[in-house]
This record gives sequence, C-alpha cells and structure tokens, in this order.
Amino acid sequence: MRQHLAVIEGAAEPMPGFRLLLLDCPALAESARPGQFIMVRASEGYDPYLRLPLPIHRFREGGVAILFRPSQPGYAWLGDRHPGDTLDLLGPGGVGFALPTTSANVAVICQGTGLAPVIGILDRVLGPAQLVLGVATSAQAYPRELLPAEIEYTPHVGIAVGDAFWQAVTGACRWANHVYAAGPTAFYRQLLRVWESTHLRPPPDALQVWVDADMACGMGICNSCLLNTRRGPRHACTDGPVHNLSDLVLD
Ligand code: FES
Repeated sequence: MRQHLAVIEGAAEPMPGFRLLLLDCPALAESARPGQFIMVRASEGYDPYLRLPLPIHRFREGGVAILFRPSQPGYAWLGDRHPGDTLDLLGPGGVGFALPTTSANVAVICQGTGLAPVIGILDRVLGPAQLVLGVATSAQAYPRELLPAEIEYTPHVGIAVGDAFWQAVTGACRWANHVYAAGPTAFYRQLLRVWESTHLRPPPDALQVWVDADMACGMGICNSCLLNTRRGPRHACTDGPVHNLSDLVLD
C-alpha cells in the first residue's frame, strides 16, 4: 500500500442513505483491481483515530469511486466531504478478484446492500457479464444508468420474490464460467450449493467472494480480521478480502 492524496471530483446519492464519491487518483486506478480496498483518513483530528477501510467500488479514467453509508459509525465526516476536497488514503490493500484474462462469461451476484466491492468487476471484464442483485426494497437496487450499457442486469426486490432471485442465481451459475459474489454467510452457503449443483469439478477460483470483516490496521498486524478457512486462520486484510468460496468455513 502507498499513500495517495485524492481530490473528490464528484459526489452523488445513488440509493437513499448511500454516498458515492468520485476520486481523482490515477496511480491508484492503475495499480488496483476489483475487490481490493483503501484505508481512508476520516477526520481532521483523532476521532476516529484509525483509518477506515473501504472497498474500491468503481474504476474510471484517472480514478476510482467509493460507495459507503455515512450513517455507519465513523463515516459521517467522510459523508460531509464535497467536490474539491482532498482525501488522504492508503491503498490498494489486500487480494482482489482474479478476473479472467480472456473473454469468458462472468456473473456478479449480490444479496443485500453490500454490493460496493463487486460492481467494479463490471468495469474491468473483457467478455459478456451479468449482474444478479437481490435487495429488500426497490430503493436499494443499484441504478441501471450507472452500469456499463452492455451488462445484463436483473434486480430482484423483496422477500416475496426470493424464489425468483434463486432461480436467477441458478441460471447465472449455469451460464457463467466465473462467478463473483458479495453477501451474508447464509447467502454464501446457499450459493455454494447452487454452484456445486451446476458445475462438475470447477476450478476452485471460479467462484470467488468478498468477505466482510472488521479491519483496524489493514496490514496484517492487529489480527482484528482473522477468518476461519479450511487452511486455518487467515487475515481478511492481507489473505483476502477476496477468497475462493470453497476455502471458507461457513459456520
Ligand atoms: S486488519 Fe489488522 S490484521 Fe487485518
């Protein structure tokens, strides 16, 4: 990780309660890949004392975008930043998604509002891609106009359409050579069942997920982010946050 001073070029509220900041930071955009994170200084004083971890949400010419909820503890100061302000950040951190280097069918699947780490995959894929999203309310659905036009996008809204969501997930798993996902543990358990029912002996890295963990240092020092994996404890910040789903212990 290295330090960057990124000027905010634009700000928006793409969904109620979410803040999107467009950052001018060419060196970070060139060196980072989807699934990696930055550690952002989020005050002018000592509260919060530590930098805050944020996934890199989108990739654009000369910069990146971050997406967060200002209502999260510690994020209010960041939510009050505006175009022209400068952010002090470290990055990129961690291991991101390993994307196919040639054209392949890619599915990005997300349940809930934790989609910030995976949408940037759609900015970097070389072949056909689709986004399957399951959210509780229509207000939480990612705006279509913010996605590349060629992406096939299926938002599923509401608990009552849960079956339709899983039908879409099953269809996406059958179609895709690579699946990248973000969501809660229960979602990962079901996704793994669907994946194993639709693929015979897939390569382990064909299904990769973002693991949301508490991160204090972001550098493998504090042990706040330890995860249980089939290879023993691993740091989410330096061994992840992206992992092969089959490596995780989903208790
Ligand atoms: S965040 Fe400190 S070891 Fe991972």
